[in-house]
Amino acid sequence: MRVAMLTGGGDCPGLNAVMRAVVRKGERHYGDELVGFLDGWRGVIDGAVRPLDVEALRGTLPRGGTILGSSRTNPFKIEGGVDACKASMEALGIDALIAIGGEDTLGVAEKLHQLGVHVIGVPKTIDNDLSGTELTFGFDTAVQIATEAIDRLHTTAESHHRVMVVEVMGRHAGHIAVWSGIAGGATMILIPEEPFDIDSVCDALRRRHEKGNYASIVVVAEGAVPEEGTMELQTGEVDQFGHVRLGGIGNSLAEAIEDRTGFETRQTVLGHVQRGGTPTAFDRVLATRFGVAAIDAVHDGAFGQMVALQSGDIVRVPLTEAVGTLKTVDPDLYHGVAEVFFAG
Ligand code: F6P
Repeated sequence: MRVAMLTGGGDCPGLNAVMRAVVRKGERHYGDELVGFLDGWRGVIDGAVRPLDVEALRGTLPRGGTILGSSRTNPFKIEGGVDACKASMEALGIDALIAIGGEDTLGVAEKLHQLGVHVIGVPKTIDNDLSGTELTFGFDTAVQIATEAIDRLHTTAESHHRVMVVEVMGRHAGHIAVWSGIAGGATMILIPEEPFDIDSVCDALRRRHEKGNYASIVVVAEGAVPEEGTMELQTGEVDQFGHVRLGGIGNSLAEAIEDRTGFETRQTVLGHVQRGGTPTAFDRVLATRFGVAAIDAVHDGAFGQMVALQSGDIVRVPLTEAVGTLKTVDPDLYHGVAEVFFAG
């Protein structure tokens, strides 16, 4: 078979590991010819491909990013985009497409599947907010990076008796914030799922500092929101999937805390550092398992499905299930575990 792959949306550590696994099993076991579309759906619209064989993927297992490039192009938002996708698949003789992406990329894959395109999905995002799978690859790496940063911030916070606000990624779901906050011993964790009351945050910090604990770490997800009408926030541009570019809650929060409490406060925005560099061993293994399962799914003709992790096993779920609703933070983890350690 002639099988194509693409990587869409925000990049994430482990993308190359997935493709390496697809190519290895596809070429050596099934005798497939593999190609990669460049820069996500943009490459499909333009018919821009490169060959992908075992040699092309050598040395890429530990390498972050994606050798294919990525974009947030949405063919359904571009005039003639969908027809162009179908035409280039046909012209290039592509029998099946493996789309490696998050909610947006797989949402496009699902719609194209409804139009008869042979697509298999692989769940990718550092945000871990895709349904149908317990974990996406890239998340473990992002949590590791954020946790290391929090560990470092503890010592400088203590030296200066400061409040440190750490902004992590997660625009709709606070998985990175909750996991890195628990792992890093955060004083407070603020997430999009639980609008916060700035006065309660400040009261908790005051109580902690009055007890003689002179430093605090507040981890805030970039999409965290204050309760309505309590704090002004910045807004940014919108992309082709309708997402606002975030980044700014950390700054607003640090200012609000310092103004209200008088405690010296600094903010650190981890930003794209969380997405860069080498994947953890866990993500390399998960990405490799997903890649092998994806090419197997192609040969089983399981189109319209996404490979997923459930109870430690790799399974297939319909793409519709994966992109229907976002997977948000389990309230039991937030209220039952994370909150136990807030401002103690
Ligand atoms: O979707 C992954 C993600 O890293 C989000 O956590 C973040 O909000 C967004 O991408 C940032 O997008 P961009 O790289 O386009 O600024």
